[in-house]
Amino acid sequence: MAEVRPGLECVVLAAGKGTRMRSAAAKVVHEVAGRPLLHYVLDAARDAGAARIIVVVGHDAETVSASAESWQSEREANAQVALAFALQAEQRGTGHAAAQAVPHLNATCREVLLLCGDTPLLRAESLAQLCAGAAARAGVQVALLTTRTESPGAYGRIIRRDGLVAAIREAKDASPQELAVTEVNPGVYVFERDFLVRTLPELGSQNAQGEVYLTDLVERAASVWDWPVPFLETLGVNDPADLAEAQAVLHARRARLLAQNGVQVADLNRLQVGPDVSVAAGASLGPDVTLTGATRVAAGAQIGQGCVLHAVEVAEDAKFLPYCVASEASIGPRAQVGPFVQLRPKAKLEADSKVGNFSEIKAARLGAGAKVNHLSYVGDAEIGERVNLGAGTIVCNYDGFQKWLTVIEDDVFVGSDCQLVAPLRIGVGAYVATGTTVTVDVPAGALAVGRARQSNKDGYATRLRKRLAARLKPPA
Ligand code: UD1
Ligand code: CA
Repeated sequence: MAEVRPGLECVVLAAGKGTRMRSAAAKVVHEVAGRPLLHYVLDAARDAGAARIIVVVGHDAETVSASAESWQSEREANAQVALAFALQAEQRGTGHAAAQAVPHLNATCREVLLLCGDTPLLRAESLAQLCAGAAARAGVQVALLTTRTESPGAYGRIIRRDGLVAAIREAKDASPQELAVTEVNPGVYVFERDFLVRTLPELGSQNAQGEVYLTDLVERAASVWDWPVPFLETLGVNDPADLAEAQAVLHARRARLLAQNGVQVADLNRLQVGPDVSVAAGASLGPDVTLTGATRVAAGAQIGQGCVLHAVEVAEDAKFLPYCVASEASIGPRAQVGPFVQLRPKAKLEADSKVGNFSEIKAARLGAGAKVNHLSYVGDAEIGERVNLGAGTIVCNYDGFQKWLTVIEDDVFVGSDCQLVAPLRIGVGAYVATGTTVTVDVPAGALAVGRARQSNKDGYATRLRKRLAARLKPPA
């Protein structure tokens, strides 16, 4: 995507525990919008032009390293980025964490972009601005992003003198006046390499937390430059509430991008589209739609309100009516599904087929133009072209031990409320009468009927009612 900036290396701090997540997993491997927090930060570092990233790991180091490695193998562009790990065995502060990365910097490194692993909303554009700004000004030893918030809470406060950033004061060490400052430190910096390497060892831990503060470097720099960004972009995830907030922002960003590329999006704030999903221009997505995995939606396809699709192929002009759930399934051109349908793995609907309300399809292929319109279960089946399965058709594929196959050839008509007991074959053009339980193969062109014969008893209903009503009368 972006060009590599020669001499730029990135350090990502990810050794902390993330206690407030109240979760056994390391904070940075928690997922937002289908990906670990850490992956967004690695993306931003890559797009800002870092050809090398050093991840500082500590708490749950193996999981965090494995997550970074999975990022690297995820895409060709990531494989181009060199990845290294530094271990911070004991978490003694951000300055101490950065110091662990120093021995891993290459000789060619001149600038160090330093990020935290828990800020998934950072945009690469802002990082690129920061890097470019630092590079354009001779002698800048620290460049940092700054932001403003009305509730600065635990953020480090930006202390300015004569308009320039002079220091960062941690909330726990700040005076009441300093605490009132609403300009805060998002924790994103570009350091001149020599300054960083020279000055880090000088930092002590005489502060309220007894930690080595990376932020103490700012006071020691001869020249500091800053670039303001919107607060939302700097959101650091500390607890599940932050995680949910970050996720909502990422989903809304994705929805906007899709809409800008020609997808009809009903509501930008009510759409969840995962990172590996593709939606073609001219498709339409209703409110509260969730698309995950390698779902592909072709042009002209419509996904109705409340559908949840995972790894589903939706062909041109196909339609999911509202409230369907589908996983590892595919529907052909102009096929129509729903409302209220479940497609389970290996459901394959060919062109112009239809599956209607309260039906479930599993490991079954429906031929072109076939219809399963109401209240049916079809599992482990091959259904031919133009077959009609009437309301309430149940394919009995399981005998409690094993699944069996049902084959229904082209142009078969199955009436309502039939049970088809597998293994079974129904030949071309056969007709199954309503209410039949089919247990033996039906030859092509035959009628299968298996139900008790009906008889009508004239006047019986009237007599029956009288008799029953008489029973209700109190005894005389
Ligand atoms: C830090 C900044 C603060 C800033 C805030 C932004 C310092 C001293 N303070 O505070 O000014 O407003 O970030 O979110 O830097 N980490 C390690 N090893 C450690 C400690 C932390 O790897 O020993 C990592 C954490 O995993 C995390 C990042 O560094 O990814 C930031 O640590 P955190 O404890 O969240 O920093 P804050 O105290 O919030
Ligand atoms: Ca902390």
